[in-house]
Amino acid sequence: MADGCSTEGCSSCSSGETHSHSKPSQVEYKNLLPTAKNIIGIASGKGGVGKSTVAANVAVALTKLGYKVGLLDADVFGPSISKMFGTKIGDVTVTDKKMDPVEMHGVKTMSIGNLVDPERATIWRGPLVHSAVTQMISDVNWGDIDYFILDLPPGTGDIQLSIVQSLKVDWVVAVSTPQEMSLIDVRKAIDMFQKVNVKVLGIVENMSYFVCDSCDKKHYIFGDSGAKKYAEQKNFELLGQVPLIDKIMNSGEESVPYAVTDEDHVYENIATNMVKIMNPK
Ligand SMILES: Nc1ncnc2c1ncn2[C@@H]1O[C@H](COP(=O)(O)OP(=O)(O)OP(=O)(O)O)[C@@H](O)[C@H]1O
Ligand SMILES: [Mg+2]
Repeated sequence: MADGCSTEGCSSCSSGETHSHSKPSQVEYKNLLPTAKNIIGIASGKGGVGKSTVAANVAVALTKLGYKVGLLDADVFGPSISKMFGTKIGDVTVTDKKMDPVEMHGVKTMSIGNLVDPERATIWRGPLVHSAVTQMISDVNWGDIDYFILDLPPGTGDIQLSIVQSLKVDWVVAVSTPQEMSLIDVRKAIDMFQKVNVKVLGIVENMSYFVCDSCDKKHYIFGDSGAKKYAEQKNFELLGQVPLIDKIMNSGEESVPYAVTDEDHVYENIATNMVKIMNPK
Protein backbone atom coordinates (compact mmCIF):
# COMPACT_ATOMS: atom_id res chain seq x y z
CA MET A 1 0.00 0.00 0.00
CA ALA A 2 1.34 3.45 -0.87
CA ASP A 3 2.13 5.52 2.18
CA GLY A 4 -0.48 8.11 2.93
CA CYS A 5 -2.67 7.51 -0.12
CA SER A 6 -6.22 8.93 -0.09
CA THR A 7 -7.73 7.46 -3.20
CA GLU A 8 -10.20 4.64 -2.84
CA GLY A 9 -8.96 1.71 -4.90
CA CYS A 10 -6.26 3.95 -6.36
CA SER A 11 -3.71 2.55 -8.76
CA SER A 12 -0.92 3.12 -6.24
CA CYS A 13 -2.47 0.73 -3.78
CA SER A 14 -3.12 -2.93 -4.19
CA SER A 15 -5.56 -3.12 -1.29
CA GLY A 16 -8.34 -0.95 -2.75
CA GLU A 17 -8.85 0.54 0.73
CA THR A 18 -9.64 4.14 1.49
CA HIS A 19 -6.74 6.00 3.07
CA SER A 20 -6.32 9.53 4.25
CA HIS A 21 -3.93 11.67 2.28
CA SER A 22 -4.17 13.65 -0.89
CA LYS A 23 -2.53 12.33 -4.09
CA PRO A 24 -1.85 8.78 -5.26
CA SER A 25 1.89 8.98 -4.63
CA GLN A 26 3.24 6.61 -7.30
CA VAL A 27 1.36 8.26 -10.13
CA GLU A 28 3.42 10.66 -12.21
CA TYR A 29 1.78 14.03 -12.82
CA LYS A 30 2.78 16.07 -15.88
CA ASN A 31 1.59 19.25 -17.47
CA LEU A 32 1.70 18.60 -21.20
CA LEU A 33 0.05 21.92 -22.03
CA PRO A 34 1.89 24.75 -20.29
CA THR A 35 0.54 27.24 -22.88
CA ALA A 36 -2.98 26.94 -21.44
CA LYS A 37 -3.69 29.43 -18.66
CA ASN A 38 -6.78 27.73 -17.22
CA ILE A 39 -7.70 24.09 -17.72
CA ILE A 40 -11.30 23.16 -16.98
CA GLY A 41 -12.82 19.67 -16.99
CA ILE A 42 -16.53 19.33 -17.74
CA ALA A 43 -17.62 16.26 -15.82
CA SER A 44 -20.56 14.34 -14.49
CA GLY A 45 -20.89 10.92 -13.06
CA LYS A 46 -23.80 9.90 -15.23
CA GLY A 47 -23.85 9.63 -19.02
CA GLY A 48 -26.15 11.65 -21.22
CA VAL A 49 -26.79 14.52 -18.84
CA GLY A 50 -25.36 17.13 -21.22
CA LYS A 51 -21.61 17.41 -20.59
CA SER A 52 -20.66 17.66 -24.26
CA THR A 53 -23.46 20.14 -24.90
CA VAL A 54 -22.29 22.30 -22.01
CA ALA A 55 -18.62 21.95 -23.04
CA ALA A 56 -19.29 22.91 -26.67
CA ASN A 57 -21.55 25.84 -25.84
CA VAL A 58 -19.44 27.23 -23.02
CA ALA A 59 -16.40 27.06 -25.33
CA VAL A 60 -18.25 29.10 -27.98
CA ALA A 61 -19.56 31.54 -25.35
CA LEU A 62 -16.04 32.10 -23.96
CA THR A 63 -14.79 32.76 -27.49
CA LYS A 64 -17.56 35.33 -27.95
CA LEU A 65 -16.38 37.02 -24.75
CA GLY A 66 -13.02 37.50 -26.48
CA TYR A 67 -10.96 34.65 -25.04
CA LYS A 68 -8.70 32.14 -26.79
CA VAL A 69 -10.39 28.80 -26.25
CA GLY A 70 -9.32 25.20 -26.83
CA LEU A 71 -11.79 22.31 -26.58
CA LEU A 72 -10.51 18.75 -26.27
CA ASP A 73 -12.94 15.89 -26.68
CA ALA A 74 -11.49 13.51 -24.11
CA ASP A 75 -14.24 10.96 -24.72
CA VAL A 76 -12.32 8.62 -27.02
CA PHE A 77 -15.05 5.94 -26.88
CA GLY A 78 -18.00 8.26 -27.55
CA PRO A 79 -16.73 11.44 -29.15
CA SER A 80 -19.33 14.19 -29.65
CA ILE A 81 -17.39 17.37 -30.32
CA SER A 82 -16.65 16.68 -34.00
CA LYS A 83 -20.37 16.10 -34.62
CA MET A 84 -21.42 19.11 -32.53
CA PHE A 85 -19.07 21.40 -34.50
CA GLY A 86 -19.56 19.70 -37.87
CA THR A 87 -15.86 18.87 -38.28
CA LYS A 88 -14.44 15.84 -40.09
CA ILE A 89 -11.35 13.65 -40.45
CA GLY A 90 -10.06 15.58 -43.49
CA ASP A 91 -10.14 18.85 -41.55
CA VAL A 92 -7.00 18.03 -39.57
CA THR A 93 -3.87 19.55 -41.11
CA VAL A 94 -0.28 19.09 -39.98
CA THR A 95 2.27 21.83 -39.31
CA ASP A 96 5.82 21.13 -38.07
CA LYS A 97 4.96 17.43 -37.57
CA LYS A 98 2.08 18.22 -35.21
CA MET A 99 -1.65 18.27 -35.85
CA ASP A 100 -3.39 21.62 -36.05
CA PRO A 101 -6.56 21.89 -34.01
CA VAL A 102 -9.70 22.20 -36.10
CA GLU A 103 -11.01 25.73 -35.64
CA MET A 104 -14.76 26.28 -35.74
CA HIS A 105 -16.81 29.23 -34.42
CA GLY A 106 -13.56 30.61 -33.04
CA VAL A 107 -12.88 27.51 -30.90
CA LYS A 108 -9.81 25.32 -31.45
CA THR A 109 -11.11 21.76 -31.23
CA MET A 110 -9.68 18.26 -31.33
CA SER A 111 -11.67 15.05 -31.15
CA ILE A 112 -10.97 11.41 -31.87
CA GLY A 113 -13.90 11.88 -34.28
CA ASN A 114 -11.44 13.93 -36.40
CA LEU A 115 -8.86 11.13 -36.37
CA VAL A 116 -10.72 7.81 -36.51
CA ASP A 117 -13.77 6.89 -38.60
CA PRO A 118 -16.68 7.71 -36.26
CA GLU A 119 -18.62 4.71 -37.59
CA ARG A 120 -15.94 2.28 -36.35
CA ALA A 121 -15.95 1.05 -32.77
CA THR A 122 -12.88 2.01 -30.77
CA ILE A 123 -11.55 -1.12 -29.09
CA TRP A 124 -8.74 0.20 -26.94
CA ARG A 125 -7.54 -0.68 -23.50
CA GLY A 126 -5.63 1.24 -20.83
CA PRO A 127 -2.26 2.11 -22.43
CA LEU A 128 -3.78 2.88 -25.84
CA VAL A 129 -6.44 5.09 -24.32
CA HIS A 130 -3.76 6.94 -22.36
CA SER A 131 -1.65 7.39 -25.46
CA ALA A 132 -4.64 8.63 -27.54
CA VAL A 133 -5.47 11.20 -24.87
CA THR A 134 -1.90 12.41 -24.43
CA GLN A 135 -1.35 12.63 -28.21
CA MET A 136 -4.38 14.87 -28.56
CA ILE A 137 -2.74 17.13 -26.00
CA SER A 138 0.95 17.16 -26.83
CA ASP A 139 0.92 16.35 -30.57
CA VAL A 140 -1.45 19.22 -31.37
CA ASN A 141 -0.45 22.83 -32.08
CA TRP A 142 -2.78 24.31 -29.47
CA GLY A 143 -0.78 27.53 -29.08
CA ASP A 144 -1.67 30.03 -26.37
CA ILE A 145 -5.01 29.30 -24.78
CA ASP A 146 -6.89 31.28 -22.12
CA TYR A 147 -9.42 28.55 -21.34
CA PHE A 148 -8.81 24.92 -22.24
CA ILE A 149 -12.05 22.97 -21.92
CA LEU A 150 -12.09 19.19 -21.54
CA ASP A 151 -15.23 17.33 -22.54
CA LEU A 152 -14.88 14.27 -20.31
CA PRO A 153 -16.62 10.91 -20.61
CA PRO A 154 -19.02 9.89 -17.85
CA GLY A 155 -17.73 8.26 -14.69
CA THR A 156 -14.41 8.25 -12.91
CA GLY A 157 -12.38 5.85 -15.02
CA ASP A 158 -9.13 5.52 -16.97
CA ILE A 159 -9.64 8.60 -19.13
CA GLN A 160 -10.15 10.89 -16.15
CA LEU A 161 -7.00 9.44 -14.60
CA SER A 162 -5.04 9.95 -17.84
CA ILE A 163 -6.24 13.54 -18.01
CA VAL A 164 -5.26 14.46 -14.46
CA GLN A 165 -1.89 12.76 -14.96
CA SER A 166 -1.22 14.63 -18.22
CA LEU A 167 -2.57 18.10 -17.50
CA LYS A 168 -2.66 20.45 -14.59
CA VAL A 169 -6.45 20.55 -14.43
CA ASP A 170 -7.32 23.66 -12.43
CA TRP A 171 -11.08 23.39 -12.25
CA VAL A 172 -13.97 21.03 -12.73
CA VAL A 173 -17.49 22.00 -13.75
CA ALA A 174 -20.03 19.36 -12.78
CA VAL A 175 -23.05 18.95 -15.02
CA SER A 176 -26.16 17.35 -13.61
CA THR A 177 -29.82 17.05 -14.35
CA PRO A 178 -31.95 17.91 -11.29
CA GLN A 179 -32.81 14.39 -10.15
CA GLU A 180 -31.08 12.37 -7.44
CA MET A 181 -30.28 9.60 -9.96
CA SER A 182 -27.82 11.98 -11.61
CA LEU A 183 -26.64 13.71 -8.43
CA ILE A 184 -25.51 10.43 -6.84
CA ASP A 185 -22.91 10.07 -9.58
CA VAL A 186 -21.97 13.76 -9.61
CA ARG A 187 -20.94 13.49 -5.95
CA LYS A 188 -18.56 10.67 -6.88
CA ALA A 189 -17.10 12.61 -9.80
CA ILE A 190 -16.55 15.68 -7.63
CA ASP A 191 -14.98 13.54 -4.92
CA MET A 192 -12.54 12.07 -7.44
CA PHE A 193 -11.45 15.48 -8.72
CA GLN A 194 -11.10 16.91 -5.23
CA LYS A 195 -8.88 13.98 -4.29
CA VAL A 196 -6.41 15.05 -6.96
CA ASN A 197 -6.61 18.71 -5.92
CA VAL A 198 -8.84 19.98 -8.74
CA LYS A 199 -11.06 22.85 -7.56
CA VAL A 200 -14.81 22.82 -8.13
CA LEU A 201 -15.70 25.78 -10.33
CA GLY A 202 -19.41 25.13 -9.96
CA ILE A 203 -22.45 23.18 -11.03
CA VAL A 204 -24.46 23.52 -14.21
CA GLU A 205 -27.99 22.23 -13.80
CA ASN A 206 -28.99 20.96 -17.23
CA MET A 207 -32.51 20.15 -18.44
CA SER A 208 -33.77 22.13 -15.44
CA TYR A 209 -37.27 22.63 -16.82
CA PHE A 210 -39.29 22.55 -19.99
CA VAL A 211 -41.58 25.30 -21.23
CA CYS A 212 -44.14 23.97 -23.69
CA ASP A 213 -45.53 25.87 -26.67
CA SER A 214 -49.07 26.14 -25.38
CA CYS A 215 -48.43 27.55 -21.90
CA ASP A 216 -45.71 29.65 -20.32
CA LYS A 217 -45.47 27.40 -17.28
CA LYS A 218 -42.17 25.74 -16.39
CA HIS A 219 -42.51 21.95 -16.26
CA TYR A 220 -39.96 20.31 -13.97
CA ILE A 221 -39.65 17.01 -15.81
CA PHE A 222 -36.59 15.84 -13.86
CA GLY A 223 -37.61 17.46 -10.57
CA ASP A 224 -37.38 21.01 -9.34
CA SER A 225 -33.87 22.43 -8.77
CA GLY A 226 -32.21 19.30 -7.36
CA ALA A 227 -28.76 20.32 -8.59
CA LYS A 228 -29.30 23.91 -7.46
CA LYS A 229 -30.13 22.68 -3.96
CA TYR A 230 -27.12 20.39 -3.98
CA ALA A 231 -24.87 23.33 -4.95
CA GLU A 232 -26.32 25.40 -2.12
CA GLN A 233 -25.79 22.60 0.41
CA LYS A 234 -22.17 22.10 -0.60
CA ASN A 235 -21.39 25.77 -1.06
CA PHE A 236 -20.60 25.25 -4.73
CA GLU A 237 -21.40 27.98 -7.20
CA LEU A 238 -24.51 27.38 -9.33
CA LEU A 239 -23.16 28.50 -12.72
CA GLY A 240 -26.53 28.31 -14.44
CA GLN A 241 -29.75 26.42 -15.05
CA VAL A 242 -30.22 25.39 -18.65
CA PRO A 243 -33.76 24.61 -19.80
CA LEU A 244 -34.66 21.53 -21.80
CA ILE A 245 -35.35 23.01 -25.22
CA ASP A 246 -35.53 21.48 -28.66
CA LYS A 247 -33.28 24.17 -30.11
CA ILE A 248 -30.40 22.99 -27.89
CA MET A 249 -30.95 19.37 -28.95
CA ASN A 250 -31.26 20.39 -32.62
CA SER A 251 -28.10 22.49 -32.45
CA GLY A 252 -26.20 19.27 -31.72
CA GLU A 253 -27.92 17.40 -34.53
CA GLU A 254 -27.30 20.25 -36.96
CA SER A 255 -23.70 20.78 -35.84
CA VAL A 256 -24.03 24.48 -34.97
CA PRO A 257 -23.73 25.05 -31.21
CA TYR A 258 -26.69 26.87 -29.70
CA ALA A 259 -24.29 29.44 -28.18
CA VAL A 260 -23.53 30.77 -31.66
CA THR A 261 -26.86 32.63 -31.45
CA ASP A 262 -27.62 32.05 -27.73
CA GLU A 263 -30.98 33.84 -27.93
CA ASP A 264 -31.53 33.94 -24.18
CA HIS A 265 -27.83 34.38 -23.24
CA VAL A 266 -27.97 31.13 -21.29
CA TYR A 267 -24.42 30.04 -22.14
CA GLU A 268 -23.04 33.58 -22.10
CA ASN A 269 -24.24 33.90 -18.51
CA ILE A 270 -22.61 30.59 -17.54
CA ALA A 271 -19.33 31.57 -19.24
CA THR A 272 -19.40 34.98 -17.53
CA ASN A 273 -19.95 33.36 -14.13
CA MET A 274 -17.06 30.97 -14.76
CA VAL A 275 -14.68 33.78 -15.74
CA LYS A 276 -15.63 35.81 -12.64
CA ILE A 277 -14.81 32.92 -10.32
CA MET A 278 -11.52 32.14 -12.06
CA ASN A 279 -10.44 35.79 -12.01
CA PRO A 280 -11.50 37.20 -8.65
CA LYS A 281 -10.81 40.94 -8.24
N1 LIG B 1 -30.63 21.59 -22.35
C1 LIG B 1 -30.89 20.69 -23.29
N2 LIG B 1 -32.06 20.73 -23.98
C2 LIG B 1 -32.33 19.79 -24.93
N3 LIG B 1 -31.51 18.77 -25.25
C3 LIG B 1 -30.35 18.69 -24.60
C4 LIG B 1 -29.96 19.65 -23.59
N4 LIG B 1 -28.72 19.30 -23.13
C5 LIG B 1 -28.35 18.20 -23.81
N5 LIG B 1 -29.32 17.82 -24.69
C6 LIG B 1 -29.33 16.66 -25.57
O1 LIG B 1 -29.20 15.50 -24.74
C7 LIG B 1 -28.39 14.52 -25.37
C8 LIG B 1 -27.21 14.18 -24.46
O2 LIG B 1 -26.39 15.33 -24.34
P1 LIG B 1 -24.81 15.22 -24.35
O3 LIG B 1 -24.32 14.38 -25.46
O4 LIG B 1 -24.29 16.61 -24.24
O5 LIG B 1 -24.60 14.47 -22.97
P2 LIG B 1 -23.26 13.85 -22.35
O6 LIG B 1 -23.38 13.98 -20.87
O7 LIG B 1 -22.09 14.46 -22.99
O8 LIG B 1 -23.38 12.35 -22.79
P3 LIG B 1 -22.23 11.22 -22.68
O9 LIG B 1 -22.18 10.85 -21.23
O10 LIG B 1 -22.72 10.13 -23.54
O11 LIG B 1 -20.95 11.84 -23.14
C9 LIG B 1 -27.95 15.13 -26.69
O12 LIG B 1 -28.83 14.66 -27.70
C10 LIG B 1 -28.15 16.63 -26.50
O13 LIG B 1 -28.44 17.31 -27.71
MG1 LIG C 1 -20.46 13.57 -23.99
